[in-house]
Order: sequence, then C-alpha cells, then structure tokens
Amino acid sequence: MTISEIREQYLKFFADHDHAILPSASLVPENDPTTLFTGSGMQPMVSYLLGEPHPRGVRISDSQKCFRSGDIDEVGDNRHTTFFEMLGNWSLGDYFKQEQISWMFEFLTNRLGLDPQNLYVTVFRGNTELNIPKDEESAALWQSLFASKNIEARIGEDSEKNGMGPGERIFYYGEKKNWWSRMGVPSNMAVGEPGGPDTEMFWDFGANRQLHETSVWKEEPCHVNCDCGRFVEIGNNVFMQYVKKENGFQELSQRNVDFGGGLERIAAAVNGDPDVFRMDVFAPAIQTLLVMSGKQYETHTHAFRVILDHLRAATFLIGDGVNPSNKDQGYFVRRLIRRAVRFAHQLNISENVCAKIGATFIDVYADAYPSLSAAREQVVIELEKEEKKFQQTLKQGMKKFVELLNQEGEKKISGVDAFDLVQSYGFPIELTQELAQENGFVIDIETFKAEKEKHQALSRAGSEQKFKGGLADTSEMSVKYHTATHLLHQALRQVLGDMVVQKGSNITPERLRFDFPYPERLTEDQLKQVEGLVNEAILKKLPVHFEMLTLDEAKARGAIGLFTDKYAEVGDKVKVYFVGDEAMEDVFSKEVCGGPHVSNTSELGKFQIQKEESIGSGLRRIKAILS
Ligand code: ALA
Repeated sequence: MTISEIREQYLKFFADHDHAILPSASLVPENDPTTLFTGSGMQPMVSYLLGEPHPRGVRISDSQKCFRSGDIDEVGDNRHTTFFEMLGNWSLGDYFKQEQISWMFEFLTNRLGLDPQNLYVTVFRGNTELNIPKDEESAALWQSLFASKNIEARIGEDSEKNGMGPGERIFYYGEKKNWWSRMGVPSNMAVGEPGGPDTEMFWDFGANRQLHETSVWKEEPCHVNCDCGRFVEIGNNVFMQYVKKENGFQELSQRNVDFGGGLERIAAAVNGDPDVFRMDVFAPAIQTLLVMSGKQYETHTHAFRVILDHLRAATFLIGDGVNPSNKDQGYFVRRLIRRAVRFAHQLNISENVCAKIGATFIDVYADAYPSLSAAREQVVIELEKEEKKFQQTLKQGMKKFVELLNQEGEKKISGVDAFDLVQSYGFPIELTQELAQENGFVIDIETFKAEKEKHQALSRAGSEQKFKGGLADTSEMSVKYHTATHLLHQALRQVLGDMVVQKGSNITPERLRFDFPYPERLTEDQLKQVEGLVNEAILKKLPVHFEMLTLDEAKARGAIGLFTDKYAEVGDKVKVYFVGDEAMEDVFSKEVCGGPHVSNTSELGKFQIQKEESIGSGLRRIKAILS
C-alpha cells in the first residue's frame, strides 16, 4: 500500500466514526514559544485539550506534518526521520479508552489487514507518588481484543530487565515510556501543561525477517522498547486527562484522547519491510540519486537515507515559509541542506542536487499538501540558493585550509583550527580529516571534540534560555499578549495598509512577536501611530467575544486572518474574535482565530513596541510588551 492510500484509509475510518477531518497545521507553530517546530499532531490542539471549544466539534482527525530537529544527527537507521506525518485522532472530552483501543485494533487488523500475531502493546504501570493509578483498564481491553482473534495475550512485568516471557504481549512500563506530554516525563512538565498515561502499539518485524536466523535479534532477550530495531512503535494512544499543578496532578475538566501514529512506520508494517525509506514516497528521489551518482541505495544506504530525509524535511519547511538562515527555524533548514550536500559529495555528486530531489517530493505530496505544491517555485529557488551558498563557503574553507597547511612547524592541525573551519566556514570535520590525510597532516581530534562540546553546551544553555517561556496557551499574561497581537495586527493594517498580514506570531508571558510583510523599515512616526491605536483600543475598554461563522460569513463581515488550508473546506464554521461592540459600531478588530483571549481590552495595561527589525525575505518583525 502507498503512503497516500494508508493516509486516506485512516482518515476515512475516523470520518466514518464521526470525526471532523482537518488539514495539517503548519510546521511552524503559532503562538507556541515552547518549541520551534510542530513535532507532534497534538501541538496545535493544546488549547482544545485544555477545554477551549474546538470549532469543528469534539472528534477530530488529521494527518499532521511534524519535524523533530533533535533527530538530525540520528538519521541513518531504518526508521528515524526528522520529518514525518503523524496520523492523529482526538476525543475532546468525548469518547475514552474503550472506543479508542477497540477502534485502533479494528483499524490495524481489519482495515489494514495487519496480523495481530505481530502486534504488541505497552500500558502505564501507575505511580503511587503521583497518585496516578495503574492502567488495568487498557490492559484488560487489549487482552479481550486479542482474545477475539484467538490470541492469548499474557501480561508481562519488568520486560526491560527480563525480556519477554512466553506468550507475553502486553507490558507495563513506567512514566519514562508510557506517559506523554509535550515536555516528556511528569517531572519535566511545567505547571499548566496537560499530559497523561498512554498505551503504545508495536510491530514485530522480527518474525517476518528472512535474515532472522542470522540476525542479532535471534538470541537477544529482546523486548518491545529495545533499540535493536526488531520492534517498531507504530502508534501511541494518550489518555490526556491530567494537568500539572503546583502540588501535583489534577484531573482536567474533560478526559481527552490524543492518538498519534507514524504514517510511514504503519506503512512499513503493512508492507512487511522495516525500512521506511523503501516506502513509495521516496522512490522517485532514490531514482534521481541513482541517475546522478550511478550508485545504489543498497550499497550506499546511509548516505542515501540522510539525503532523502534531510531534503524532504527542508522542502516541507521551506514550503511552510522557513527559509535557510542563521537563526531560529531557518538555522535548521540550513543545516539540513548543507548536511545533505555533504552526503551527496560522498556519492560523488558534484552538480546541484537539492532542487532536483526537492522537486520529486513536491510532486509526490502534491495531492495531500496543495500548499506545498503552491510554494513550488519558492522551494526550488531557496534550495538552489542555499546549495550555491554552501559551495561558496566550502571554497573559502578550502582557502583557509591551505593556509593551515602552509603554517610552519609540525604537520598538525590544531583542534581549535579544525573547529573554526566547521564553525566559520561550514567545513565538515570529515572533509578536513580527509584532506589532512591526503596532505600527510594529522588533526588534534581530542581538542576538536572538546571545542565542539564546549560549543554545544553553550548553545544548549542558549536554547533552554530561549524556550523556557512556559505554556503560552494558558498563562494569564500569554492570553493578554494574544489579544494584544490582534490589536497590533489591526493597527498595522490601518497605518501601513492591507498588505500587512500575519506571517508569524510567537508569544511568551514576557512579550509578543509579530512578523509581517513590508518592504521597508517603519518610521518613528508610523511606530508611534501603531502604538497609539493599540493603546486607544485598550483605553476604550472594548469587550472581546467570538462567534462561529462560515468562511463566507467571516469574510463578508470583514474578518481578517489566515484563510489557509488550516481552516478547512468552505461551509465549515470558523471562530471569529471581535474586539469591540458591533451594536455600537465600535469594532476595532475582527479576526479568525482559535483563541483564547481576554474578555475586555482594559485587562491589557499599556502597550509598547520595543523593537522593529527586518528578518529577511521582505518580512518585518515587531517585538512589543505590555506593562
Ligand atoms: N502526542 C502523542 C505522541 O506524539 C500521540 O506520541
């Protein structure tokens, strides 16, 4: 089965169970300072899990584009990718364990025809300190479903230590494995963050492997969470029913389900091939690489995988408006592209490769992601530009390298110099090593590693600093900044014109940030006017309310906002926030938005613009605070 077929089957299955089907949200989260990228299907749903009514109802399903930057250096095995699609379904205070677990079992075994003999599951062991009970209900549900297929599913304990006992198929694990929140284990969660126990599903590729007899798996005391590659997690049912409080966990006002399943991994199970890179979406790119390099996937697997993964991720990210740059999201796109080019060099590809590979992905995903297709030109241009820039950088690095060779003294390149080549010239260490060897030089690799670690520690500290903002969606200050963002958006349009549209927004409890297209620096006078308009709306103590409108109604009533993929088909209702009183003909802003917002602008305090700057590509960025 192709990726598209499985995606369709899944969405149809949940549509048949009364779920509204939503298009994927952007890879760049809106108003979520906790992370740079959408890394799970649940992220765009947080406010609804916390109780905000969802415009499309209490049963939602989608296939969400995800990017996990932490995995960039991991890519190379048969199942890890930085970009992936996560199939998702949500109950927002509606159905719970019984329906979710039975539907999943039905979907996997009956719809997709997966053999339940190869299916294993884990459930939450409970934690008395946290006062969260053992999830015996889920274990019992799984047991009865397996029984319905004549499979006796025994429950295993301590499988991490002892491996899997005969007949065992359901395993209890603690919060490291069977607890889910955006921030991981309970102790890592910020106050206000939702989370809950989960039950995960694993596919056993071992039993089907021809090479099983000779493989490393044969004698291993293996268990489902072992990293050997035999078991692959294909889905996670989270029972999102708790919220972290100062003194422990509290039940949320509603019990939610958050299911997430890796589309490609499910496809791998269906196709009986544990290598996700062999799924159909990669085939045209593999073919292109083969033609360009004359090398085979089978013999150059690692390099192929890195190129395939990185260029697909870069393609989708640029499609969502992230261009390569030196900071924030753009930095990751740059890293992806440059790393892919390096691996292309390993395959002896010297012509420009990125745009060609990117184009294969745009074609493959054109039907499922029309917005990617619409951004084709931009994606191709950016991929080409970045690749050329990198070639240039490599040339400069070469010059510096030759200087190092010409230094007097022993034939040694210091760790500091080698690291400088990486840092300042994007000159990969592997390349430096190769060149050094060719010239009879050695590199002080220990010092190099130390330098690298020093740098990584620094940048880790930096990013912790940057993302410690807390939960945007619920804290009182973040909600205020959210409303202030609407006022700013409208004020900018009044002063600069309708070309101002929101291209990005990022809110922390300390400030708001707003990106919009405008060709030049704003003058002092313009900034004063914008600030003045926002403060005027605050002083007027305008009421804030929302209405559910169809897209046409929303447009007819003059609402602004992102009328993109995200708001689904014509006829669907969207939430429109009004700041001001329509009866009094005193409406300052009307904007399509999921909320939440304050109920009156008087709650905001004084609005002040702190900075206005260019962020490239014709975009301006404003940072502002409330005091
Ligand atoms: N949000 C859950 C996950 O990402 C489903 O695993």
